[in-house]
Amino acid sequence: EKGGFDHFMLKEIYEQPRSIKDCMRGRIYPKEGKVQLGGIKDYTEKLKNIDRIVIIACGTSWHAGLVGEYLIEEYARVPVEVEYASEFRYRNPIISEKDLVIAISQSGETADTMAAIELAKEKGATIFGICNVVGSSIPRITHAGVYTHAGPEIGVASTKAFTAQVTVLTLMALYIAQQRGSIHQGEMVKMLTELDEIPSLVEQCLKSNDTVLAISEKLKDSRNCLFLGRGSGFPVALEGALKLKEISYIHAEGYPAAEMKHGPIALIDEDMPVIFIATKNSSYEKVISNIQEVKARKGKVIAIVTEGDKEVKKMADYVIEIPDTNEAYLPLLATIPLQLLSYHIAVLRGCNVDQPRNLAKSVTVE
Ligand code: F6R
Repeated sequence: EKGGFDHFMLKEIYEQPRSIKDCMRGRIYPKEGKVQLGGIKDYTEKLKNIDRIVIIACGTSWHAGLVGEYLIEEYARVPVEVEYASEFRYRNPIISEKDLVIAISQSGETADTMAAIELAKEKGATIFGICNVVGSSIPRITHAGVYTHAGPEIGVASTKAFTAQVTVLTLMALYIAQQRGSIHQGEMVKMLTELDEIPSLVEQCLKSNDTVLAISEKLKDSRNCLFLGRGSGFPVALEGALKLKEISYIHAEGYPAAEMKHGPIALIDEDMPVIFIATKNSSYEKVISNIQEVKARKGKVIAIVTEGDKEVKKMADYVIEIPDTNEAYLPLLATIPLQLLSYHIAVLRGCNVDQPRNLAKSVTVE
């Protein structure tokens, strides 16, 4: 049932070209420049009139929410806040009928997320769900929603569910942009044409496996790791760090790269590996100067770079190449080598990758 793979986690990492494709199936029409989301189609008028979007989730799903914030603000031009469900519900949040709440949950059973939904509903907000498990509890208590269709995720550490959540958020951002007229048709055609190519680019990212394995050998005895990125590379860094701590029990932190100088830089020495998301995009030059700061303090730099990159290669100890794409889709690609990295490090350390200690697949306690 592991389809020839040693662990469910690895199988699920390798399923991503297909799961992302399944997630987009019947929803994107690149030539027409059109996105169709049947699950929320009754809310198109509502989407034209919302003032704000609040995304609520936990863990990895919360990281997907942070990527969603970038995408929705960029394309739909609606202000977005992303909240941990557990924090949201224990405050007295300011929510009204003009708010759209998007709850993200792989399992559809997370207690904190459910409680946050009930609270937002009482205050009159419209609630959309983004869930993976069909027929789970959250889709039943939301007003509308879009399934991720990633298929069952058995590994406790979320992999393909995360990329499917990011895919749905991409579709939602473009859909809302379309309804609100904040995107030109030509741009839409281009965006969807590029999105359509993502499954095959993810396939290419998986080819970094041998390189990642070799790097994992070097990092496996580390006690700490720092993950840095900017823009939508920041949530990718957070997710990379979470994956590593969950399954390998190495202490890891994700930070926006520019925040490093406000504290974490004190940690850097020759025993501190720093993993950078350093692809060619709007923050490339800035990330390069952050890499220089780490190198100047003898930190070990592992960088995810765009294929053919020369500048970062000169500075980094190890690089992992991923194909070039529209900046909006960077998280879908850059996440893949980080999943492989945490997987291999955990296996090399003899950890139970599919069932890490103290963790459960769905957290139904508050
Ligand atoms: C991380 C992980 C957890 C879940 C979190 C939310 O790999 O699996 O952090 O993401 O417990 O779970 P869902 O998405 O089911 O609400």
